[in-house]
Amino acid sequence: MTTDGNNGAEARPVSASQVVMARQMMPSDTNPWGFVHGGTIMKMVDEAAGSAAIRHSRCRVATAAVDYMSFLHPVRVGDLVTVMASINDVGRTSMEVGVRVESEDMITGERSHTSSAYLVMVALDSEGSPQAIPPVIPETPEQRRRMAAAKIRRAQRKILEAKLKESGHALPASDLVPASRE
Ligand SMILES: CC(C)(COP(=O)(O)OP(=O)(O)OC[C@H]1O[C@@H](n2cnc3c(N)ncnc32)[C@H](O)[C@@H]1OP(=O)(O)O)[C@@H](O)C(=O)NCCC(=O)NCCS
Repeated sequence: MTTDGNNGAEARPVSASQVVMARQMMPSDTNPWGFVHGGTIMKMVDEAAGSAAIRHSRCRVATAAVDYMSFLHPVRVGDLVTVMASINDVGRTSMEVGVRVESEDMITGERSHTSSAYLVMVALDSEGSPQAIPPVIPETPEQRRRMAAAKIRRAQRKILEAKLKESGHALPASDLVPASRE
């Protein structure tokens, strides 16, 4: 195992923190026509991403951003929804977590890729301040491809932030400070 500047913490492989969660969709998850609310899927995505981030960092985490989320197919009451979360890349204190959602009609066995999402989770210390985390090691060609793509998204975020700041359209810093840390 390798180490780097992140507190000298030992790097951890992607596979050590991957998470799979599954739940059958109930009537309380749906609209009156039997289709599952997007928010139900988003909550499962956030929970799975949070669990993967905690497993990687071994500390509490906060969702800093949902960078992207697609809804490719409707999900119906009775379907089994499976959410798979994996650390794509890490910065100093933040992690990009990639999440894939699949739904299965449990009677026919037909499976669909219903959503993909990228979330940024930040590791926090006991005071609620961002905390350095271990590097992550991609072990497969797919994991290396996801890491390269995550680095591009991170660089794009920085460019967007800088452009918004320059144009005066960035949120005032006071709007970004969470109430508990004011
Ligand atoms: C996320 C949070 C801890 C970041 O705190 P902060 O003081 O802005 O921290 P920093 O500026 O030092 O940034 C820490 C890391 O988070 C990343 N980050 C912060 N805000 C981000 C955003 N909006 N999008 C992507 N990454 C972000 C930074 O790039 C940095 O990453 P790095 O250390 O890997 O380079 C803080 O904004 C927070 O507590 N937000 C509320 C989170 C929450 O309550 N989520 C649940 C919503 S109900």
